[in-house]
Amino acid sequence: KPPPLILGLESSCDDTAAALLRGRDVLSSVVMGQNALHADFGGVVPEIAARAHAERLDLCVEQALDEAGVTLTQVDAIAVTAGPGLIGGVLSGVMLAKGLATGLGKPLIGVNHLAGHALTPRLTDDLTYPYLMLLVSGGHCQFLIVRGAQDFTRLGGTIDDAPGEAFDKTARILGLPQPGGPSVEAEALKGDEKRFRFPRPLLDREGCDLSFSGLKTAILRQRDALIADQGGLTLQDRADLCAGFQAAVRDVLMEKTRRAIAAYLDEAPADPALAVAGGVAANQALRAGLETVCTDAGLRFTAPPLRLCTDNAAMIAYAGGEMLAAGQTADMTLSARPRWPL
Ligand code: KG4
Ligand code: ZN
Repeated sequence: KPPPLILGLESSCDDTAAALLRGRDVLSSVVMGQNALHADFGGVVPEIAARAHAERLDLCVEQALDEAGVTLTQVDAIAVTAGPGLIGGVLSGVMLAKGLATGLGKPLIGVNHLAGHALTPRLTDDLTYPYLMLLVSGGHCQFLIVRGAQDFTRLGGTIDDAPGEAFDKTARILGLPQPGGPSVEAEALKGDEKRFRFPRPLLDREGCDLSFSGLKTAILRQRDALIADQGGLTLQDRADLCAGFQAAVRDVLMEKTRRAIAAYLDEAPADPALAVAGGVAANQALRAGLETVCTDAGLRFTAPPLRLCTDNAAMIAYAGGEMLAAGQTADMTLSARPRWPL
């Protein structure tokens, strides 16, 4: 008997997405981004996002069915992001999922968006529980020990901004295009990371908590000092600022990862591995740093391909599949949750 065909829906931030999965087979994964809609506002506008999700979810589902070459009636279960996220978008997804599940008479599964990110490495790699997870995105930053589809231990996380947010704000401060991650990374390649030394916050504090909000203030000060000094920024200044910033993020994440690994290895896992996910996991400097840390500690390093690292619905369908297998389905009382810690 083939594994169940799962329809996944994601609408918790600024990507509207639908995907069809059978086991570990991604039959289709449609993601409709909203960067252009929010570009003039310097961030995601919740009301605009909610409206766009409501308008596009149906379209996404149709396209996903089309690309997978299946019909709605063949779907065995509906998995939907039920939080955490912007409530308008999450509501759109949950309402559609409830309608589809009722109409088709199929199970409904409410998936935590963070669990979706955290389980996705198992979609592309034979990872066994427990593995260590570093989730680094525009909205999140945390270390988790992943023990099962619904079983996580949080070792620590950011106490303020997420690293992606810091990349985006740095880009804004330096007049680089959004999303900031890729543009800051490209600039950093041309820069000298040693010219400016930015703070490495919370390194003196025990544990795995991180902080990134002070970094953007430091960048802003350094930029203003350069402008006051020389009347403007040269291209080299900008590249050096980016390189210094990226090095600070990398160093902090490397050190906190060492600590998370120490806590994780205390449990003597059978196949020790670190998986990373989230948009910031695309950063090559960070990846190289984390791979070094893993090699030193005797851990395997793995990361899903980028299209599965950033927000998508295949990860929701995959997590939903694991939950379905464990009998963790929802009913019509499933609610959309703006906050939902793992
Ligand atoms: O996971 P994601 O698509 O969305 C959520 O935040 O859930 O992550 C988007 C974030 C943005 O802040 C973007 O600037 C950052 O990931 N990002 C990067 C890179 N590519 C994307 N940050 C650093 N380096 C990159 N190459
Ligand atoms: Zn996400």
